[in-house]
Amino acid sequence: MEKIGFFGAGRMAEGILSAIEDRKGVFMAEKNPARAEEIAKRYGVRVTGDLKAVARECDLVFLAVRPQDVDAVAAEVAGAFAAGCALASIVAGKTLAKLRAAFGRRVRLVRVMPNLALRAKAGMCAICAAPSTPRAAVDAVARILGRAGETVVLKERDFDAVTALSGSGPAYFAYMEAAMAEGGVALGLKPDVARLLAGQTMYGTAKFLRESGMELQPFIDGVCTKGGTTAAGMKFLAAPQFKKIVARTLAAAARRSAELA
Ligand SMILES: NC(=O)c1ccc[n+]([C@@H]2O[C@H](COP(=O)([O-])OP(=O)(O)OC[C@H]3O[C@@H](n4cnc5c(N)ncnc54)[C@H](OP(=O)(O)O)[C@@H]3O)[C@@H](O)[C@H]2O)c1
Repeated sequence: MEKIGFFGAGRMAEGILSAIEDRKGVFMAEKNPARAEEIAKRYGVRVTGDLKAVARECDLVFLAVRPQDVDAVAAEVAGAFAAGCALASIVAGKTLAKLRAAFGRRVRLVRVMPNLALRAKAGMCAICAAPSTPRAAVDAVARILGRAGETVVLKERDFDAVTALSGSGPAYFAYMEAAMAEGGVALGLKPDVARLLAGQTMYGTAKFLRESGMELQPFIDGVCTKGGTTAAGMKFLAAPQFKKIVARTLAAAARRSAELA
């Protein structure tokens, strides 16, 4: 089995780590000593402050630092990677070309756009790889991330759209949940009750749709009994502006992703 490493042990790294069943060989590099101690204690993994040690020992390393820290990490680990090591970057906006320029020719590059839901083992990870990266490295990354949710292998040209939809998506859905809860409060519900109702409805709807595989429009039609309450509500929600706002939201996020790349 490959030895898995991490550069950075923050929130997203923890999400991936928590989905790894056999963590005995996992080796993480984390700059923040308090965070390093916390992760080592919680998961029983080795955590060091030495990025090079992880690069030297591991076959597959997840790059999980913030975008502004990537160049410093690359400079520190230059030349340290073991031959054939794969580097799976989850860093938003860092293209394979930029990663190649930063980390050199030695590593086998895989790029991942995850989302925060992987912390609940319900993530969505899009994966792409450099042409020179062997399929086995992509499969290894997909296997690990597959334990934290769904994975899909795509072309890199789709990554701005992916970033806008599934990468940023959790915030948009949470915003919708907040709007539903606030609507409930406006109708007289207590805030905690409204939050429960909104959250469980969102969760249950997503779960049902996912598990049943039902198409969305027949599902909506099924809830919207003619002359009923949902139909009365949908008259407002289904106005053309709503889909336009959502489309513009995604377009703005995709533009920003392209700017950052
Ligand atoms: N959060 C999301 O929803 C999401 C979605 C998709 C992709 N991503 C990507 O995931 C990456 C990680 O995000 P995150 O939310 O997990 O960030 P995070 O919680 O801030 O974790 C990054 C960790 O890396 C550490 N670090 C920084 N420089 C280091 C170095 N030279 N050596 C070792 N450790 C170092 C940081 O320590 P310090 O805090 O001390 O600097 C921090 O603990 C980002 O690049 C982001 O673009 C995030």
